[in-house]
Amino acid sequence: MAEAIHRPTWLEIDLQALLNNVNTVQSFHRERTIWPVLKANAYHHGVGPIAQTLIDAGISHFSVSNLDEAIELQQIFDTHKIDATILIFGDVLYENIALVRSNWCLTMSQLEWIKGAKEYDFSNQLHVHLEVDSGMHRRGLQTLEETKVALAELLSDERFVVDGIYTHFAVADTDVAGTEQQAAYFRDILHHLDYEFTHVHCANSNGALLDVSKECNGLRPGAIIYGIGIHPEDYQQYGIRQIASLYSSLVEVKQIKKGEHVGYGWSYQAGQDEWIGIIPIGYADGWVLGNQGRSVYIDGHYCEIIGRVCMDQMMVRLPGLMPAGVTVELFGSHIPLYQVAQELGTIDYEVVCLLDERIMRTYIK
Ligand SMILES: Cc1ncc(COP(=O)(O)O)c(C=O)c1O
Repeated sequence: MAEAIHRPTWLEIDLQALLNNVNTVQSFHRERTIWPVLKANAYHHGVGPIAQTLIDAGISHFSVSNLDEAIELQQIFDTHKIDATILIFGDVLYENIALVRSNWCLTMSQLEWIKGAKEYDFSNQLHVHLEVDSGMHRRGLQTLEETKVALAELLSDERFVVDGIYTHFAVADTDVAGTEQQAAYFRDILHHLDYEFTHVHCANSNGALLDVSKECNGLRPGAIIYGIGIHPEDYQQYGIRQIASLYSSLVEVKQIKKGEHVGYGWSYQAGQDEWIGIIPIGYADGWVLGNQGRSVYIDGHYCEIIGRVCMDQMMVRLPGLMPAGVTVELFGSHIPLYQVAQELGTIDYEVVCLLDERIMRTYIK
């Protein structure tokens, strides 16, 4: 893909805000290991600079979704000659086991996978964490019995080193009782497994704000380190800052007459003579059609997105003549991401994860 450096549309990432968020989470969990979640290109913030910043801050445990992401992160470690641990959430195909390094931990969430792997001819030692399904019903071993069998299977094969155990919360943002119930289930499983795990972890971002995981010595925050995924009122209370701001520019400004239409499908009609501006971002960038009718912030004014969002550009109604070249905030200090998500009827995770690599990322240290 062409490098996105010649278009005045950019995602600005504040690395100080990232550090602030990680330090804040760490301050709530002083004795616990933080495994920041860097999957999906660090929730599309750019895994290179995000990982580098966290490494410089002394973080040495990370989590990712799959083998490809582990390989990419390992390249960053190798370049900087860093020793760090990577937890991989997803399954690894048997034929790829040989690629797994000794500083990576694989998730063991299925008895069938473990049994199949034991039959497979590989010689590298695999460090693993068991995943227990405590109520999310996505990945994970489902009962105490199944978890016991999985542990026994792993311990009977010296190619496996069982380092950790974890579960994942489904409703930590909305249901404290439900989350406590998941934590209690996990605690019970732990209690009945006669094994000293080096790493025990449950909490995601919202779990990190609750006091439900006393038995854990680690946590896996993702969204919160990017300053998303928590309730709007919690930002101020906990001092969490959104790290990404999306900007573009007015590239053309023109006047249209009352009754004229704008864009594909002519879905907008000017109620009076109006100034409009063209902004070079569209649905190919992940700036979806649902943004029509929402607002962007330009030089002190909230300006409505009018007409259908195009593939590479969109139009806004201006309060009057504005100079081409002026900066447009799509989200940032005047329009928080949670507001964008609310207005689009989705979650802020999705808004950032939809932002295409075509949008240049810039990093403020
Ligand atoms: C297993 C696991 N742990 C932790 C996280 C981080 O969750 P959050 O971004 O809500 O903190 C995720 C993300 O979905 C996950 O899948």
